[in-house]
Parts: sequence; structure tokens; C-alpha cells
Amino acid sequence: MIDYGLEGKVALVTGASGGIGRAAALAFARSGAKVLVCDVKDEEGRETVSMIEAAGGTAIWQRCDVSSSSEIKAMVGRAVDAWGRLDCAFNNAGVNLLGRDEFADENWDVAISINLTGVMRCIREEAEVMLRNGGGAIVNTSSINGLVGNPNQPGYVASKHGVVGLTRQAALKWAKEGIRVNAVCPGVIETPMTAPIVSDPQLRSLVDSMTPMGRFGKPEEIAEAVVWLCSDAASFVTGHPMVIDGGAIAF
Ligand SMILES: NC(=O)c1ccc[n+]([C@@H]2O[C@H](COP(=O)([O-])OP(=O)(O)OC[C@H]3O[C@@H](n4cnc5c(N)ncnc54)[C@H](O)[C@@H]3O)[C@@H](O)[C@H]2O)c1
Repeated sequence: MIDYGLEGKVALVTGASGGIGRAAALAFARSGAKVLVCDVKDEEGRETVSMIEAAGGTAIWQRCDVSSSSEIKAMVGRAVDAWGRLDCAFNNAGVNLLGRDEFADENWDVAISINLTGVMRCIREEAEVMLRNGGGAIVNTSSINGLVGNPNQPGYVASKHGVVGLTRQAALKWAKEGIRVNAVCPGVIETPMTAPIVSDPQLRSLVDSMTPMGRFGKPEEIAEAVVWLCSDAASFVTGHPMVIDGGAIAF
């Protein structure tokens, strides 16, 4: 893994108790950033902190449900209280209601409030602090379902398309103030979210066959892109939905 030179920077990661968020929290720490690890799963979140500390990095745990404005405000406030600033934010917490009817109001509302409204509220609070710092970098987790449709998940598809739109809006709004805003659009990645697919041999081989590289992605392969997008190496990149999918939507 490359060191992206984030020494002295402060990074916040939502959905950091496992999967892509945990991998990103570890990658931020490896590049020298202090990391605020945020999620609704306390035990696993504290485990992410321990993993960072065991590797010689610095992290603290902050419980945050991204469907709550006040908890998001408290989360961003915690980074500032602890370390005086916020430089990088990875708005990654999300849910996938695979197998449930997302045209049902209650499921639609969950998908939109966590996956889309949660990202908007995070951006709103993070940008306020970053403007005081003189800039920063935000990355939001969309999906290939933010760029192409799938027939079964209206809530997920709409929320992830919304994240791409919001990313472009925020990038334009703060382009001159030094805040870059990008998104990652993962294909199918092996995480707790996709465990039901991974553990079913038929579904697994279906996904493999739909991915030109013939395999699932790894959380670290998304984390690498996130930290790069937050680093000075990406200083002219903003408003970009970066596809990381082994070629799945290339045809
Ligand atoms: N795994 C994939 O194939 C894949 C593909 C495309 C996009 N994504 C997106 O990547 C992101 C991370 O997913 P993952 O695959 O690592 O799955 P995951 O289930 O391992 O991680 C999601 C994390 O978000 C947390 N979370 C859920 N609701 C929350 C809330 N209200 N507030 C705070 N945290 C909450 C969960 O506790 C969990 O730790 C999600 O936004 C997901 O939609 C995943």
C-alpha cells in the first residue's frame, strides 16, 4: 500500500465498523492521518480503532447514526474537539435492502435517509469545518448502481444516483474554496454487505461471470482510491464518480 502523505491531517470515516469503511480507516491511518472511526456498531467500531492502534496509528471511536442530524453534528464536532480540524471525510455508511420490496414506503425511506440524506447532512457539517481550515477533501460512497440501473432495487439505485448528483453539486459549490468532493462507485466487493452472495455458490459464480475480471473486489481496492482522492496527488480532481468495478459496467 502506498503512503499518500497525510501526516498531520484529520480524517473521518462513516460506516467504519467493517467492510470498505474499515479498510479506508486503516488506509488513512497508514498514510499518517488521525482517524475518527464512526458507525452504529460499537463493538466492531472499537475493533477498527484497535486495529489502527496496533498498526501504530491514531484513531478514536465515535458512534454516529447518519440518519440523525444531531449525531452527525456531534461527530464532526468530535473531530474538531479532539484534533482541532477536519481535512478528509469519507461518507461511506450505507445499507442495501437486498431482497426487500423497496417500493414499500418503509424500505424506500430507510434507503434514502441513510444512503442519500445521510451523505448530504455529513457534507453540510464537514464543509463548514473545512471552510474554516482553508479546504479539505470529501469522498462519498455511491455504487455502480449510482450510474446504471438494476431492476430490483429502486431505493438503492435512486439513493446511489443521488449521491453522484450531490457529489457534483458540492464539488461545484466549493471548487474555489479548496474543498474537493468526489465519489467512489464500487462494483461487487466482498464485505459483510455481500456475505449472502459470497456464501451462495450459484450467486457467487453469477457475479464472477458478470465481472470481466472474473472476481469480487476487495475492500482495500476501494480504500486505496479513497485515500488517493483525499491526497494532494488528486489536487485537480473534483466532482468525479470513480468507478472501481473490475470492468463490470465497461460494456
Ligand atoms: N459491498 C459492495 O459490493 C458495495 C458495492 C457498491 C457500493 N457499496 C457501498 O459501500 C458502502 C459500504 O458498504 P460495505 O460493502 O462496506 O458494507 P458493510 O455492511 O460492511 O458496511 C456498511 C457500514 O455502514 C454502517 N451503517 C449502516 N447504517 C448506518 C447508519 N445509519 N449510520 C452509520 N453507519 C451505518 C454499518 O453498520 C456498516 O458497518 C455502502 O454505502 C454500500 O452501499 C458496497
